[in-house]
Amino acid sequence: MSSNQTSDRFDRPLRDLRVSVTDRCNFRCVYCMPKETFDKNYRFLPRSELLSFEEIERVVQAAAELGVTKVRLTGGEPLVRRDLETLITQVRDVPGITDVSMTTNASLLTRARARSLRDAGLQRLNVSLDAMDDETFMRVNDVDVTVQTVLDGIENAAQVDFDSIKVNMVVKKGLNDHSILPMARFFHGTGQILRFIEFMDVGNSNAWDLSHVTTSGEIADIINAELPIRPAEANYRGEVAKRWEYQDGGGEIGIISSVSEPFCGDCSRARLSATGSIYTCLFASSGHDLRPALREGDTDTVREKLRKLWSVRADRYSETRTQTSVIHIRPKVEMSFIGG
Ligand code: GTP
Ligand code: 5AD
Ligand code: SF4
Ligand code: SF4
Repeated sequence: MSSNQTSDRFDRPLRDLRVSVTDRCNFRCVYCMPKETFDKNYRFLPRSELLSFEEIERVVQAAAELGVTKVRLTGGEPLVRRDLETLITQVRDVPGITDVSMTTNASLLTRARARSLRDAGLQRLNVSLDAMDDETFMRVNDVDVTVQTVLDGIENAAQVDFDSIKVNMVVKKGLNDHSILPMARFFHGTGQILRFIEFMDVGNSNAWDLSHVTTSGEIADIINAELPIRPAEANYRGEVAKRWEYQDGGGEIGIISSVSEPFCGDCSRARLSATGSIYTCLFASSGHDLRPALREGDTDTVREKLRKLWSVRADRYSETRTQTSVIHIRPKVEMSFIGG
């Protein structure tokens, strides 16, 4: 398979494919799907426009032939897509794919669902949780889901032995930054890896402003003052989160600093939307439609299309966002459409 590997204009290989299986979500997080935009008039994709599992499987096959080993299922909320377990098994069985993971809000993660996802072949789980108190968490999710609901989902996942469970907290200054320490205290020693994510200017509707960003340096200082941490080695080149370990042996945390310390230089991720478009950057304004290749050609056709679009890729949005104001004017794809 190695002869088929592909690199972009900055010599970055294609290694990860993030697959959005739906644009719908049962949450309305204020930084992702604010109610003012995602209200009852918002036109979500009709089912007929979603890629079928067979089509997704063929894109994964094509990507694997180009060197992709990791596939992450995202949404919106992936658990609202019917029969997801079938897709997980299809993806797991693609030759070359060694890591199948999912990012979820865990509100629908019953014990039985966790078991069936694990049995289907899901290896790792990342769960979004933004606060430890209901008042703040409900202000973030905006649909009255309690903290305990998500903690129950995490516990259900822990019971079925995923290879790893990570908890993602987006930190928005003035909204939930007071939850940094309570979150750290709660997950310290649990084996679940808490990661703090700088609030980003994704999409067009979250009214992002640099003053809303608590930087990775500030986050590390807040934690270090009570629970001393030291830097840890990255697990692999291009890891999004910078790892820190607790000095008392209480495990590790991660900090994702796409604003204050962008990591575009090693970015090997492509994103597939639920409608079959490839986005070569989280901040792209448009994607490349794979549906014609999927419907008219075989997997080789899809692979060559993918190779071609990756080979001309020059995206490094996070590294340039502070240098140019022009970028902020053009429309960006919504986070809920390509899954973060
Ligand atoms: P693993 O390291 O494989 O566990 O996964 P991950 O951290 O890549 O996946 P996850 O979905 O948990 O990503 C966490 C968050 O990091 C996302 O929701 C984004 O906010 C951010 N992120 C992930 N990939 C990128 C990227 O390519 N660019 C930017 N700017 N942010 C990213
Ligand atoms: N900034 C940073 N991360 C975001 N996510 C969604 N919106 C944003 C944003 N504005 C990420 C969160 C969540 C995942 C589904 O998408 O990490 O866990
Ligand atoms: Fe849904 Fe996740 Fe977006 Fe929140 S951040 S609205 S849970 S997709
Ligand atoms: Fe990759 Fe774009 Fe994120 Fe940079 S901003 S790391 S190029 S997805």
